[in-house]
Amino acid sequence: MSLELDDRQRAMLAEMGVRVWQPRVARPVPDDAAPPEPVTAQAVAEPPVARPQAAPAPAMRTPVPAPAPAAPVPVRAATEARRPMGIENMSWPALEAAVAGCTACKLCERRRNTVFGVGQPPALPGAAPRADWMIIGEAPGENEDLQGEPFVGQAGRLLDNMLRAMGLARDRNVFIANVLKCRPPGNRNPEPEEVAQCEPYLMRQVELVQPRVILAMGRFAVQSLLRTQEPIGRLRGRPHQYQGVPVIVTYHPAYLLRNLPDKAKAWADLCLAMSLMDAAGAEGGGAAR
Ligand code: URA
Repeated sequence: MSLELDDRQRAMLAEMGVRVWQPRVARPVPDDAAPPEPVTAQAVAEPPVARPQAAPAPAMRTPVPAPAPAAPVPVRAATEARRPMGIENMSWPALEAAVAGCTACKLCERRRNTVFGVGQPPALPGAAPRADWMIIGEAPGENEDLQGEPFVGQAGRLLDNMLRAMGLARDRNVFIANVLKCRPPGNRNPEPEEVAQCEPYLMRQVELVQPRVILAMGRFAVQSLLRTQEPIGRLRGRPHQYQGVPVIVTYHPAYLLRNLPDKAKAWADLCLAMSLMDAAGAEGGGAAR
């Protein structure tokens, strides 16, 4: 395996807190000097694999500005009012409209935007945005609620760097979504009832995006996808399953911003996810679909 790192990868590894031994810069050698000893590069962690870069495409933002809740969606029952029926069969646009108009829990009362997700634009208008990778976080925060797009704050910048190190971008072969589509006030933790109400949307997103690997980020995403109370530390390092899709568990970018030493563990999780993707046969570890 080549250990050559380009500037971007070096910057990313620095960002992730992974230290890399670099070859010494070769000095010009006088003609009469003995040839220098060869110097080999050695990474302390698995280096990122160089992946083909595609021309940047505009991100498919899927925020739906404050929806007209008028879409005539049938409701289930009085107790589950206003979460539409038939989510499990919805097309992508119908699902997006259903989320935009959802009033199934009290989070709808204070949201400015629903946050459906962001990813590679679909091949055809109205089709689902297929992607090899799906990143699942917790819930929109203040910035996401304002902009209608997941991970646009400081944690989002770290996520973008992590994706870049994997040869990905939020508009390339990735779909990013949250467990909750609406912001919990004051960024409090999601409540079980809110997670339960929102889950069918995420399930349908996973079915339609058809990822080969899911990266679950943070305790809430991990515990609600895997239906467990185990801490992340005990779940890392091996694949789990969600709807038949392999899930790799890692720390939330917001947590990593506060716990810098764990960035190296997160990098190890990304490497595991990339090797799983390679094993799944995706081109370039998932660089294009
Ligand atoms: N944290 C999340 O889990 N999701 C976001 O979209 C933003 C912050």
